[in-house]
Amino acid sequence: MMEQINESKNYIQQQIKENQPNIGLILGSGLGVLADEIENPTVIPYGDIPHFPTSTVAGHKGQLVAGTLQGKNVIAMQGRFHYYEGYTMQQVTFPVRVMKALGVEQILVTNAAGGINESFDAGNLMLITDHINNMGDNPLIGPNIDELGPRFPDMSQAYNTELMNVAKQSASELGLTLQEGVYVGNTGPVYETGSEVKMLRTLGGDAVGMSTVPEVIVANHAGIKVLGISCISNMAAGILDQPLSHDEVIETTEKVREDFIQLVKKVIETM
Ligand code: 6GU
Repeated sequence: MMEQINESKNYIQQQIKENQPNIGLILGSGLGVLADEIENPTVIPYGDIPHFPTSTVAGHKGQLVAGTLQGKNVIAMQGRFHYYEGYTMQQVTFPVRVMKALGVEQILVTNAAGGINESFDAGNLMLITDHINNMGDNPLIGPNIDELGPRFPDMSQAYNTELMNVAKQSASELGLTLQEGVYVGNTGPVYETGSEVKMLRTLGGDAVGMSTVPEVIVANHAGIKVLGISCISNMAAGILDQPLSHDEVIETTEKVREDFIQLVKKVIETM
């Protein structure tokens, strides 16, 4: 594992040379456009990076984009790997480990999620204050690699308080509404039934999606500070009387694209 991480890191470092990133961005469904804002970009297709998995879902590009955003050196994943695609938890989270090796100390994780909290509306942005791992798996299962982090990582600050405050402050300065809540990570690929959504609400969930939790676990293991933002692309099943579709998810994320880009840029200025 260490050898693979190092080979990936070395390859990426050779491509990006002097612009070593300290902020990582993981961009979810429909939110990859943010990477187009990166200045002096170096684009590296996942397929070119030794040991990187390659991504498949529509609406997800598969490449790293390194460069500057608001004067900060960043590296973005335009498209991520999902557990439901059949990747192992280790494959899903491999890029986070490579980011750490590259010098990343803070990660902004984004996703499209279904609203569980009935006070939310499709098109809202939600600050992730905490998560519930409902995937029935964990990327840290197996022998612990002590060089990467502790056997039993603390998750009491899984989403960093100072970064949350930066996001809230940024949203308020921009006059944007930023909801807050708990993200539930389900495996997918099905959307939930109405009864499952009711259960997740009872358990304390405000939004549900099919990503993010594995990456955030590995980031915490590595001592990387995490900020998470969900785009509530639709309400989860049983709230509105309408079926869910991936097209709706992409449509809504396109509508909030501008707000999302503005917010993230402002946040990165202060990160
Ligand atoms: Cl309703 N559920 C899940 N699991 N993921 C989603 C979603 C819902 N809407 C967007 N992504």
